[in-house]
Amino acid sequence: MHSRFAPPLFALLTALALPVHADNYSVPKNHAFEEECASCHMAYPPQMLHADSWRAMMGNLSRHFGSDASLDEKRRTAITDFLVTQSGGRKTGDTRDARGTPLLRITETARFAKKHREIGAATWRRASIKSPANCTACHAQAAAGDYNERSIRIPK
Ligand code: HEC
Ligand code: HEC
Repeated sequence: MHSRFAPPLFALLTALALPVHADNYSVPKNHAFEEECASCHMAYPPQMLHADSWRAMMGNLSRHFGSDASLDEKRRTAITDFLVTQSGGRKTGDTRDARGTPLLRITETARFAKKHREIGAATWRRASIKSPANCTACHAQAAAGDYNERSIRIPK
């Protein structure tokens, strides 16, 4: 009898032990997104950009940060719908630049700058990191949506 109740209690205690600000950015399951958008880099969380940013990016995939990431129309539409539906709400903040153009990079958003203000330019350029977009270099559990302080390790 006792063991039947132990696991939920343990889960509850674990949840309570997490800091209040621990946002989770796990990527909702989507086959097309995983297949097409996680081969060159990790699957970035849709929650981190505003719907307008995703629409702008998905409207110009042949010129995607110097890469050609074009898709057939059916896949492009399906992935756009997924990204827009799961896109950031209140917490993402505005993901447009000063002129109102949607930003295409999570790493250019005000929220990203604020969260990473302690990281110097030389650190971003380290061979072990290469780019701010390389989240997994420092956030070991990024693939699971965990960007918490406890799982950060900045490589030398
Ligand atoms: C052919 C390779 C390739 C494919 C496929 C690809 N990307 Fe990218 N993506 C890149 C490159 C290269 C960058 C720039 C990375 C950097 O600056 O380090 C990038 C950057 C990004 C960024 C910005 C990261 C930042 O700086 O915040 C987002 C968001 C993104 N991709 C989303 C997507 C989505 C959504 C798809 C699927 C529709 C996709 N990518 C498919 C190559 C690709
Ligand atoms: C050079 C290492 C490094 C890279 C690369 C990096 N981060 Fe971070 N990130 C950090 C550090 C350090 C913090 C700050 C931890 C603190 O002070 O709370 C942080 C904080 C965060 C936070 C806030 C976590 C919280 O609990 O408040 C988020 C979200 C985040 N990063 C997302 C990303 C994403 C998304 C990417 C890739 C697009 C990325 N990071 C790339 C090192 C990095």
